Amino acid sequence: MNIAETIKETRRIVKEWKMQGLTVGLVPTMGFLHEGHESLIRRCAAENDKTVVSVFVNPMQFGKNEDLEGYPRDFRRDSRICQEAGAHLIFHPCPEEMYPPDFFTYMDMDTITEGLCGGNRPGHFRGVCTVVGKLFHIVSPDRAYFGQKDAQQLSVIKKMVRDLDFDLEIVGCPTVREADGLAKSSRNTYLSEAERQQATVIHRSLRYAEEAIAAGERDVKTIREEMIRMISQQPLADIDYVEFVDWGLLQPIEKLEKPALVAVAVRFGDTRLIDNYLWE
Ligand code: PAF
Repeated sequence: MNIAETIKETRRIVKEWKMQGLTVGLVPTMGFLHEGHESLIRRCAAENDKTVVSVFVNPMQFGKNEDLEGYPRDFRRDSRICQEAGAHLIFHPCPEEMYPPDFFTYMDMDTITEGLCGGNRPGHFRGVCTVVGKLFHIVSPDRAYFGQKDAQQLSVIKKMVRDLDFDLEIVGCPTVREADGLAKSSRNTYLSEAERQQATVIHRSLRYAEEAIAAGERDVKTIREEMIRMISQQPLADIDYVEFVDWGLLQPIEKLEKPALVAVAVRFGDTRLIDNYLWE
């Protein structure tokens, strides 16, 4: 497995592969890899001749009061996980490589970035779109892999690829969970024992929604109120949002119609966790 720290070196390696007619898959990450990332890398390696994993904590997608400095990092461990999961190249740039001092060009999107996480994290998706757009230009992958846990991000990237005519396929992959249902996330490591225990309510509330919908309930207010009640019972939980949106432009809905996304964001202390159920 190769490790490249520069855009030039990454392009050189990928160009050689492409000249041999090989297909290339990309798994963009911010490192501190867990089983969720691992499943993306394994799937990428199964579906492409060569797999590139980018490990870059992207400063542009963090807000002023967010955890950029404290974001967990362990590149040695990440490298081992990438190698074992079948990656061929890690692109591991420093912030200056991605954003030189005179950097002024951004990719951005309106409407579908305005609600859910975009509503509470202004500028977040501008940072995500810009870095992902750059990674697509640098690696020129045939396919790129993203987790369904970040459903809004997945939807935003699919839309960006369509609107700006990027020539690749975006592959959405299922959320990987702990045994008790909590979605795997690098941020889970921040949780205290009590927070970790109470955080399982996120998954339980989503299972409740899934069952209510399966039983024929179509009124968003009814399901949403019960979800809020369930989450609020946990003393350490502070709800950011419990939203029902259409799985297209991610606009709020009152009556459930397929495909729809039930999305939840809850803070436990300083840690903000998200999860969702996609009814399709
Ligand atoms: O999902 C993430 O880890 C990040 O948002 C991504 C896609 C790697 C862009 O920095």
